Amino acid sequence: MENSIKLYYQNFGDGLPVVLIHGYPLNHTIWLPVAERLASENFQIILPDMRGFGLSPAPGGTSTMDLMAGDVLNLLDELGIEKAVLVGHSMGGYVSMAFSRLYPGRLAGLGLVCTQASADSPEKRQERLNTARQVLKQGTQRISESMPARLAENGEIRDAVAEIIRRTTPEGIAGALRGMAERPDFTEWLASIKVPAVVIHGMLDKITPLENSELMSRLICRSWLVRIPDAHHLPMLENPESVAHAMIELAQKISQNKPCDR
Ligand code: MLT
Repeated sequence: MENSIKLYYQNFGDGLPVVLIHGYPLNHTIWLPVAERLASENFQIILPDMRGFGLSPAPGGTSTMDLMAGDVLNLLDELGIEKAVLVGHSMGGYVSMAFSRLYPGRLAGLGLVCTQASADSPEKRQERLNTARQVLKQGTQRISESMPARLAENGEIRDAVAEIIRRTTPEGIAGALRGMAERPDFTEWLASIKVPAVVIHGMLDKITPLENSELMSRLICRSWLVRIPDAHHLPMLENPESVAHAMIELAQKISQNKPCDR
């Protein structure tokens, strides 16, 4: 894939390949509690750091959702995997939807966690571009102070997230902000997704509204919605048991191989 880069990743377990894609401005470690639960359940778990995050390079410029989807394709090629389930959290969900549009033949199933198909409003887009400029000038400290409280209630989770953000480069954060700002609306595309898909919503999420999750689960043919009552924007850390359970159900639906009947 042109312009794709080699991502840092962890890879363990045997069985159905599942790529767990983190959101902004995080890294693969947010998925470890779910990954540990799935590793004993016939899954091959792949945990990449997206470009600009964790231990993956930050090539600069704009990290579009299409470029990040290309990086995931590159990783599947490197691992010799023909088809994988993509599970994306928030920005990772935008990347997974971009992947489903660009490389539908490489997708076995989809998990969309605390994410949305809609594009940004003009105001939100401008806010992201302003934040990108500010981070490049002043560093990541302001984001590491303000963001964790929007993601979860639990103090330990907030501290872990703040530490991840402090370790992220301004270039990585700015690239993803610009990429999210220019992402297209995926709503029209949802009806074309024919693989089984689970939509997971944290009922206390302050970032993605429930209506957006309901819309995605209504429009994707073989999908269903899992509401997690005690979770905010990070159900994979706040309630990893329920998220892992949803992944096991997703694997069952994939093996049943029922056609889309809409
Ligand atoms: C994320 O968690 O990836 C971000 O909150 C997504 C966004 O800002 O749209």
